[in-house]
Order: sequence, then C-alpha cells, then structure tokens
Amino acid sequence: MKVPRCSLPVVPLLLAFVGIAGLAASAEVPDLEAYRKHALTHEGDAGRGRELFNDPKLICASCHSVDGSAGKAGPDLFAAGDAFGRRDLVEAVLHPSSTIAPGYGTVVVETKAGALFQGTLKQKTDAGLQLMGVDGTLVSIAIAEIKAQSGLPLSLMPEGLHANLTVQEFNDVIEYLTTLKQAESTLVSDHGMPRDLPQLAKQVKVQPFFTTEFNLPSSKVKSGLTSLHQLPGSGNVFFVLHQKGMIWRVEKTATGEEKTLFADLPAEVFSERGPNGLLDMTFHPKFRENRKYYLFYQVLEEGKVTTHIVEKQFDAEFKGDSGQAARLILKIASVAEDHSGGCLLFGPDGFLYIVMGDTGPHNDPNGHAQNLQLLLGKMMRIDVDHTEAGLAYAIPKDNPFTGQPGVRPEIWAYGLRNPWRFCFDRLTGDLWLADVGQDRVEEVDIIRRGENYGWNVFEGFEPFSNQFRKEGGTFAKPVFAYRRKYGNSITGGQVYRGDKNSSFYGVYVCADFTSRRLFGLTLENGILKTAREIGTVPQRVVSFSEDEAGRLYAIGYEGMIYQIDFTEARFE
Ligand code: HEC
Repeated sequence: MKVPRCSLPVVPLLLAFVGIAGLAASAEVPDLEAYRKHALTHEGDAGRGRELFNDPKLICASCHSVDGSAGKAGPDLFAAGDAFGRRDLVEAVLHPSSTIAPGYGTVVVETKAGALFQGTLKQKTDAGLQLMGVDGTLVSIAIAEIKAQSGLPLSLMPEGLHANLTVQEFNDVIEYLTTLKQAESTLVSDHGMPRDLPQLAKQVKVQPFFTTEFNLPSSKVKSGLTSLHQLPGSGNVFFVLHQKGMIWRVEKTATGEEKTLFADLPAEVFSERGPNGLLDMTFHPKFRENRKYYLFYQVLEEGKVTTHIVEKQFDAEFKGDSGQAARLILKIASVAEDHSGGCLLFGPDGFLYIVMGDTGPHNDPNGHAQNLQLLLGKMMRIDVDHTEAGLAYAIPKDNPFTGQPGVRPEIWAYGLRNPWRFCFDRLTGDLWLADVGQDRVEEVDIIRRGENYGWNVFEGFEPFSNQFRKEGGTFAKPVFAYRRKYGNSITGGQVYRGDKNSSFYGVYVCADFTSRRLFGLTLENGILKTAREIGTVPQRVVSFSEDEAGRLYAIGYEGMIYQIDFTEARFE
C-alpha cells in the first residue's frame, strides 16, 4: 500500500472547512446561547432544514448519510430523531466533541515519511488500516509505514458550523434531525422486538448505595467506573472497579462506609482509545478455600491493545492482595481497539466463561465474529483448575468445537459484536448476554453451547451482510431487541432472584447506557413473554451487580452505585 500524496494536515483542515462554507464567523454571529435557546423554545421548518443539511455550503451531508448506508466519515443519522432528544441534537451540533459517538473517534496517523492523516477508522488488519477523512476519501496506510498512531479527544466534526446559519436556520436543521426516524414497518418483524415497551405504572426506584461517589481526584474526565463485586461470604465488603486500573475496597458499616484502595494498576492497564481498561473481576467458586480471583483488562503490548485475563490471590485475611505475581491465563490481541468485550464469570459448572468483542472497526469488515480460528466475537469456556500442554488452563471435554481442526477449542458460542455484560440466572443457570448493536438495534441473547448468534451476518433479527455467511450455517436468534427509540447501547444485567414474593422475581433487568432507561424482561419457553420499561437511572449504567442475598445494583459510569428498589413497583 502506498501513502497517497494528498495527506490531510491535522489542524489547518478544520479551519479550511469553515472557509469552504464561505460564510466564516463574523462579529454579527449571535453567541451559542442564542442558538441553543431559540432551538429549545421554537419550532423549526423541517423542510427548510433538510435543504440546508444537504446544501454543499453547510457540508453536513458530506460526512453524514441519512439512509442507513453508513458509508461516510460520520455516523449515519437515519434514526437521529429516535436516538436523541432535541436538547441532545442541539448539543451534538453546537459542541461536537462533548460526547463522541462510539466508533467515530478521530484517529491520527503519522507516517514514517512524515505525512499526517486524520479520519474515522473504517478498516484495520495486520497489514494496514483505512481512514475516512472529512472529504469522504478513504486513505489506506500500511502498518509498516506508520510511525505513530493516536486517538484525538476531538470530534472530526468541526466546531462552529452553526456560525454559517441564522438562529432560525439552525433551528430548521435541528427540526429536520428530529424527523429522522427508523422505519417501523420493516422492523417489527419478529416477536422479540416489540414496537413499544410500555412503562410500568409504578416504576422501580434507584437509591445511592454508598454515600460517596467514586471519582479520580486528579482527572478532568468524570470517572469511568466499570463494575461492583461483593466479596464472597463477607456480607458487607464490596469492590468497585475503575477503568483506569483502580480497585476500591468498600466496607459497609453501621454508620457509613470505609473506603480503601485495594489495587492501583494504572501503569499496567491501558484505558484509552475505546472502552478499554480494567473492565471486570470475578471470584473462584472455591474462593473461600483458595482465595483466587480474576481480572479482565487491556494492556498495550507491542503497540497493540491486548486483553489480559489474569489470576491473582487474596492474602490470608481476605483484606488485600497476597502480593504474589499474577498468573496470566489468556491474552487476546485486538485488531482495531474497539469492542473489547469485558466480562468474565464462573458458570454453575465451575468453568470460567469469558466474552470478547469483535474488536472493531464498524461492520466487522474482516469477519472476526464468524471466524472460528479467532477468539474475537466469541464466548469462551475454560477450566482454570487444570492445565494442558501449552496452555495456562484446560479445555473442558464437552466444549462444542474440541478436536475440530483449525477451530479454537475455547469457543463456547460465537457471532457476537460487542458483548457487554452477561450473567447466569442463579436458579435456572441460563446464560443471559447483552450484545451492543451497530446501526439499528440492541439485543439480548440466551447463550447456548455451540450456537452462532449471527454478527455480522445479522444485526438483531435483521440481515446485515452476506460477506462472511457460510453455506448451510444456522443462526440463533436473540430473545429480545430494541430500536433506537429506546437507546443506543445496551448494558446487560441480572435476573432478579431476591424476594420470592416480588412480582420481579425471575425478571431479567438490563439498561441502555445512553438513554439511562431500565428494562425488565421475562421469557416463556425461550420466547419473549413480557418486556417493559421499568425505570430510569440518573447516571449512565455501565453494569449491574447482584449480591449474595439477590439484591441488584446498577453501576453509574460517572461514579455512583445505586441499589434497585423493587418494593413499590409492580411488574405486569
Ligand atoms: C467533517 C465531517 C462532519 C461534518 C461536516 C459534520 N459532521 Fe456531524 N459528526 C461527524 C462525526 C465524525 C461525528 C461522530 C463524532 C461525534 O460524536 O462528534 C458526528 C456526529 C454528529 C451527530 C451525533 C450523532 C451520534 O450518533 O452521536 C449529529 C447529530 C451530527 N453530527 C449532525 C451534524 C450536522 C447537522 C452537521 C452539519 C451542520 C454535521 N453533523 C456536520 C462528522 C461531521
């Protein structure tokens, strides 16, 4: 691959774009607040907004398609009006960098020849990568040519586009965006994707479980919690994990809580460029005898984001880590640094289940999730109590692909995109998993031995691409999927097994990270029976946790842990 001449210089480009629009900001341009206020208090003209959106002067359409084709540098906005409220749309245009759409961060590459490229990542293999720049051209760069690569905390979308518009015109563009809704007719195709998720008349409540928030004192970014775990057999001791590599030990007391730093691994853990970092922790089923626990995190190894699964041990008092060297169980190199999976748990069978995403980029263009030679886009099942030649673990005899040439025997199930949290129902042993979708839907699966959950041949119930479809392949369907109207990014939850007399007993509770809504589901004979919106959470929910008594907790990414209170709500 040859580096093209027309390299995209980083800073001047953004300025150049305002220039192209030809209506550069002048003293008469009202300030941001005037645009925001007008757009939040007036109705706009969607037809006029559509013309402006497509006007080459305003350049929105050079980066955004609106037909679901998703072929440009920015996200397809075909469901923008479902996925975002008016206020979010206003902010997305006035402050593009305040929240960056997952998978659309700006990547900057410097080549050995001294050229600089920036764009959103469209393809990455061991040989090279492709970036799409603001003008829609695709640039291929060979890995061997790359001197440095980094992610920018800035959107590729330029600031100040509103300056090309009057307040009324800006409002017209916003109005147009609100009208972009996902077509319903083609979508309500399956029983598992109800058109509406009725809200419970009496919603569940969430209450802060700890008095304090978990934030990093020195960091400008507000937190990045990933999970909560109760110390087995302790009752009142919990561990709170932070993406950056911190683990706090928190002991609930009669008067409050005692918080100490249990582990501090920021030097080891790589937490940039996507949802990477310290993502999960779990305890050995015989933890009280062997004090073993396991962590799931990413490190940077030879320039590659690599997932490590390690085994560590508590000290004899169960207070701190033993200080013994960690045992590396498994490592998995990612290809494009996104969709790093991030959950591990022991099943009722005593084996360790680990889930891994396709590692991106969008579309899974190399077919990782369907490729049984790779651990990407897979649920794995291993035996950490024994070892086999060349492995730090053993392969359970009844894994579905053992003995098949060219297939990784660790695989339990496959066809996953960005699996974000799974759980076992403690009563039935069912394995519930949430898989984050790309363009259209978020899905929930019941994972069974050897099944193919479809990505990237399917997204939810819908066909996505035939590029990696194998002749005669069969696919397991999700049990539930929801559209953009309800959110953008699912967070898998827990089956409530607390109070047997509660109407929520046996309900799977999950959430949408961006919309902060809580959902409750029940199945009958493996098919969706009831799906409801059961409440909302003040912060974005990054995971759930269940304690030994079966109480459920929602972990807020911004630093709060909430206990879910079902007592006054009724699931019906
Ligand atoms: C140079 C390319 C570019 C241009 C021009 C551009 N955008 Fe964007 N836009 C992006 C990228 C990249 C993102 C994703 C990163 C982010 O969230 O900021 C984005 C995000 C958005 C989002 C949020 C979508 C999501 O899924 O989070 C909206 C809404 C949006 N743009 C609207 C517009 C409008 C309206 C215009 C014209 C006034 C416009 N954009 C012009 C590149 C562009």
